[in-house]
Amino acid sequence: MSVNPEHGGRVFAAARSLGIAPAEILDFSASINPLGPAPGVREAFCGSFDRVGHYPDREMTELRESLGLRHSLPAEQIVPGNGSTELIYLIPRLLAPRRALIIAPAFSEYAGALRRDRVPFDHLVLSPQDCFALSLDRIAVELSKGYDLLFLANPGNPTGRAYTDTEATKLADICRAAGTFLVLDEAFVDFCEENSVVRLAAERDDLLVLRSMTKFFAIPGIRVGYAVASEETSRRLRSIQEPWSVSTPAQEVAVASLADPDYPRRTLEYVARERESLFAGIAALPLLRPFPSSANYLLIEIPSGTDASSLAEVLLQEERILIRDCSNFAGLDSRFFRVAVRTSDENSRLLSALRRFC
Ligand SMILES: Cc1ncc(COP(=O)(O)O)c(C=O)c1O
Repeated sequence: MSVNPEHGGRVFAAARSLGIAPAEILDFSASINPLGPAPGVREAFCGSFDRVGHYPDREMTELRESLGLRHSLPAEQIVPGNGSTELIYLIPRLLAPRRALIIAPAFSEYAGALRRDRVPFDHLVLSPQDCFALSLDRIAVELSKGYDLLFLANPGNPTGRAYTDTEATKLADICRAAGTFLVLDEAFVDFCEENSVVRLAAERDDLLVLRSMTKFFAIPGIRVGYAVASEETSRRLRSIQEPWSVSTPAQEVAVASLADPDYPRRTLEYVARERESLFAGIAALPLLRPFPSSANYLLIEIPSGTDASSLAEVLLQEERILIRDCSNFAGLDSRFFRVAVRTSDENSRLLSALRRFC
């Protein structure tokens, strides 16, 4: 199997190609909370079966109210979707932009959505040399070339670099001055919530924040994400969304995911501790350079010697470990790969495999 896919998390395809069960593969290529779904989620999922004979609540009232409570925002300004990916694909239709800019390296679906709606776009590439720092001056110069839509992820994926809420607010101001609509993708910001500008998005009509429940709440197979925007933008977004795109099990699982007040704290503590020890373990290996990360994954550079796709191939064939070869990200090349922060035992297995490789 080619292990240089568009996305991480292709565990079913990898298992098929090896003729083994998906459970035999250790998937470090998708970055999902290693603690698994929150308590109560399994019961909510099973319990929702009693309601699958009806169409889902089209207004998604309970889910929007739970999310509203979480962010102290009115439910009307929250638009859930079938994963944040559904919402990314609605952005070009919502805004009808003439020309878009993507801060790279970035999630490939921004480009996918723009391409589908034939919106011309460019990448502004951040550099590994300064750990993907955001140069606001450079962005201001770039926007003056006439971009009316900008995509940025905070924290960046696959870089793990977080931009502070002050930096994000300055960027929103720069976009406003340039007449550019800013889509800020906060899919992983739950791991560093202090950087979120979700409430600013509710106040401005030229800013939309995207959030995902896939990563922090460990429910990628359920598909729930949401947008936060001004009242008017939220209303327009809902008006172009297909009906019933968030199923009843998805709505009920998402509500249950938000119910346990202790789950976020336990997740943050666990991920921070494991990220630190995985980072230290990788940094101690002779051939590998991990980048500091505020999320639940690490971007790693192989400064010389082999390339990431050979490493991915060897790890899959010999160790049944999947990693994300990052050579197909704009701004990166064959020296880069990404691994998720998983449980302590699983991270040790990865480190042993990498040690053998190095
Ligand atoms: C930065 C970023 N945004 C959005 C998504 C989409 O997440 P979902 O559609 O599962 O909510 C991903 C998935 O990997 C991502 O990495």
